[in-house]
Amino acid sequence: MSSIVSVQGLTKVFPGGLKALKGVDLEIEEGEVLALLGPNGAGKTTLISIICGLTTMSGGRVTVGGHEITRDFRAARELIGLVPQELHVEGFEKVINTVRFTRGLFGKKPDDALIEQILMDLALWDKRNEKIIELSGGMKRRVMIAKALAHEPRVLFLDEPTAGVDVELRQSMWQVMRGLKDRGVTIILTTHYIEEAEAMADRVGVINHGELLLVEETGPLMTRMGRKTLTVDLSAPIDAVPGPLAARGVELGNGGTSLVYTYDTAAEQTGITDLLSDIREAGLHLADLHTRQSSLEDIFVDLVNGSTR
Ligand SMILES: Nc1ncnc2c1ncn2[C@@H]1O[C@H](COP(=O)(O)OP(=O)(O)OP(=O)(O)O)[C@@H](O)[C@H]1O
Ligand SMILES: [Mg+2]
Repeated sequence: MSSIVSVQGLTKVFPGGLKALKGVDLEIEEGEVLALLGPNGAGKTTLISIICGLTTMSGGRVTVGGHEITRDFRAARELIGLVPQELHVEGFEKVINTVRFTRGLFGKKPDDALIEQILMDLALWDKRNEKIIELSGGMKRRVMIAKALAHEPRVLFLDEPTAGVDVELRQSMWQVMRGLKDRGVTIILTTHYIEEAEAMADRVGVINHGELLLVEETGPLMTRMGRKTLTVDLSAPIDAVPGPLAARGVELGNGGTSLVYTYDTAAEQTGITDLLSDIREAGLHLADLHTRQSSLEDIFVDLVNGSTR
């Protein structure tokens, strides 16, 4: 078995009766980057907290590196680095000390070269002697990542690592994640930024109302579920879509000056050739043609709205 994290039939019912996870199955391969997407309250943090042993499960089984999280917590936890969604750092401690200290908590020997490397990678080396309370929010988040990496975990959980982080810093954090991936670290991140999943993840999981709707490779998911729209600009506006074109599902766009046709990228026949001849037969003149591929965002919205096609 090559999964480093295995989640089987995981359920979580909170004391008030809320079912936050309704039987989640998930196998995570060593070395992959998995992005979990889902709206607020979907269950992402609950799932991560259970895998990391911070929240108890109601039912199911979770192993990390073959260690069952409930029976063999310490061995499992040692393999895990966690950057939680909520920032909580020891405000009056210096950056470098808090990172060193975290390594010590896991019983690892001091390794100043490693700590230096981590702080350099996260652009925190210049701030190493500053008190955490004096840092900006984005810097504090990077300190959290440094702490999570201090004991050299094999699996890193990042719960919304780039929430509230500016575009430039987000790019540099992606760079850090890529570097970790190159070193073989398995990364599970949650995000609301679709472009983050698109840029970073080997696989994407979509979670909603405590259910994992799908887990698929990012590229093939977008090809399989992706649609393209072809927009045909007309040389003169029309009032209504001619019958044969309407029968193909063509809609009027842009105040009657364009025809919009949506098709499946995975279909054998796109129907474009027939569409173009219908346009000609209807006596319409083309001014221009352009296509647009649906993004992961479109796919995500469709899934969460329940129209999985
Ligand atoms: N300690 C708790 N007690 C009761 N209900 C909880 C608790 N923690 C979370 N919940 C509920 O469980 C559900 C899932 O919450 P969770 O934090 O896992 O969502 P999330 O996907 O991480 O959302 P977000 O994107 O906002 O971070 C929500 O309905 C939430 O209100
Ligand atoms: Mg959350």
